[in-house]
Amino acid sequence: MEIRKATNMTGAEILGVDVATGLDAEKAEAIRTALDEHGVIVLRNQNVTPEQQVEFTHLFGEPDINFNALRFGIDGSPEIYIISNINKDGKPIGTRRAGETWHTDMSYAREPAAATMLYAVEVPTLHGLPLGDTAFANAAAAWDALPTELREAVTGLRGIFDFRGRKRNSPVRAEDIAKYPPVEHPIVRSHPRTGRKSLYIVRDDCTSIVGKDAQESAALIEALADHIVKPEFIYQHKWQIGDIVVWDNCTVQHRAILDYELPHRRLMWRTTVKGDAPRL
Ligand code: SIN
Repeated sequence: MEIRKATNMTGAEILGVDVATGLDAEKAEAIRTALDEHGVIVLRNQNVTPEQQVEFTHLFGEPDINFNALRFGIDGSPEIYIISNINKDGKPIGTRRAGETWHTDMSYAREPAAATMLYAVEVPTLHGLPLGDTAFANAAAAWDALPTELREAVTGLRGIFDFRGRKRNSPVRAEDIAKYPPVEHPIVRSHPRTGRKSLYIVRDDCTSIVGKDAQESAALIEALADHIVKPEFIYQHKWQIGDIVVWDNCTVQHRAILDYELPHRRLMWRTTVKGDAPRL
């Protein structure tokens, strides 16, 4: 087994692992540690069944059941939720436009997802080049790079996270508001396993900063959100069929690049791992 950094600050590729045949304790621990260290891990050339993907997801914690899995799931594996632009019998088989803007999964929940995994079943290409990349930005490295004065100013601040922030022009269901009411999280959080600090702030999902007026809140959210996604903190994953990519939602933010349309098909199986309430 070999671990190669993907960029200087974000992501690593793990070679010499076959998820389908199972992992011994040593490999499992090394993979877990690699995710803690690099925020994103990539395992190429995998060939897994839904059951094997769910079993691998257990390595990172307890898999969650996505509310979309009822509509866009896989029979017998309710932990898997399909992201895809493919239609079958005139109906979409998955969510087409998932995560187009920078975000960290389920930040609007009291206990956001700890980690997310995508398994690439079909990848769109054009002239042999992959489309539909996923970009990752390292919010822990972004924290490390902040000037001391700004670190002191933002430590201890809390943000209001509300999924309606990104749904400004679309209707929201009363049951979703009841399930995910606005929630307060620290905008600087410590990793639950390593203690490393990261910035935890996203445009739209973080709608205001507690104790600051609308103008001050918006300025701080924009400044920090823009800082996190500076090029030096980014790894952009170019998918190949058979890739398994896992990311840590405390350490990185991500966004899907929607630069493809049918007939270029994209099919991903997605699992998530339950997390704790973020803490400073
Ligand atoms: C997501 O935000 O979970 C989707 C990422 C992707 O499809 O590339």
